[in-house]
Amino acid sequence: MMEQQVKSRQRVSDHGEVFTAEREVNAMLDLVKQETERVDSRFLEPACGDGNFVVEILRRKLAAAKKRATPPKQQTVVPLEFEKQSVIAVASIYGVDLLQDNVIACRQRLYDIWNTEYEAVCDNEVDEACRSTVRFILNRNIVCGNALTLMCVDEHQQDTRKPIIFSEWTLPFNDTRIQRKDYSFAELMQSATIEDIIRKTGQMDLFADRNGEVEPIFLQQYIFDYRRPQNYDTQP
Ligand SMILES: C[S@@+](CC[C@H](N)C(=O)[O-])C[C@H]1O[C@@H](n2cnc3c(N)ncnc32)[C@H](O)[C@@H]1O
Repeated sequence: MMEQQVKSRQRVSDHGEVFTAEREVNAMLDLVKQETERVDSRFLEPACGDGNFVVEILRRKLAAAKKRATPPKQQTVVPLEFEKQSVIAVASIYGVDLLQDNVIACRQRLYDIWNTEYEAVCDNEVDEACRSTVRFILNRNIVCGNALTLMCVDEHQQDTRKPIIFSEWTLPFNDTRIQRKDYSFAELMQSATIEDIIRKTGQMDLFADRNGEVEPIFLQQYIFDYRRPQNYDTQP
């Protein structure tokens, strides 16, 4: 079946909106195959459209999450370990797009892919609070903004006064608590140097330890339990 690559002529001429076909997406992702098959490697798509690249990245990461949640020499996935790995996978994917309808569609596609796997693996152990956390993470990670000015935009694609903020999500405590640290996109771009890009085999780590170089300054830090999302915005 031919995939639809253009929604309207107007959108192509106004925003350069042409979607990439699945075959090309996969060929391009294969250029960084190892990273796409690591649960926690971070990806940012600065013109994500409705998500053709990020959904494929999530599919690959969820396959990796299943492997990670399967003990050696066993065939069955441990559901709660998969749940945790799958949350890490979702939280490692970031996107920006100018058009609100694309952003909403992109979040939904990512959620549906995650939720289908979650139900298939975790079955009667699925948890509504965890679902709600994943929606919360997707709302923060897939941003309606301008990747050139680094600002959020309104429904007319005009810059607002709100800078794009990205959260770094980690699970450092060996339980279900997530640490969220917020950074402005501008700050992350400023502290990323050319040396970062070269040293890391052609790739840039968005938040990473910068080996003695200036680290980006975070704005806020929160800790919450992904199975108790009412505490999302509680600072430690
Ligand atoms: C060529 S399409 C690619 C979409 C998707 N990456 C894909 O390959 O299917 C470009 C996308 O970039 C968005 N876009 C254009 N200018 C942008 C900007 N300054 N910041 C963020 N997104 C932008 C458009 O709305 C459109 O969805």
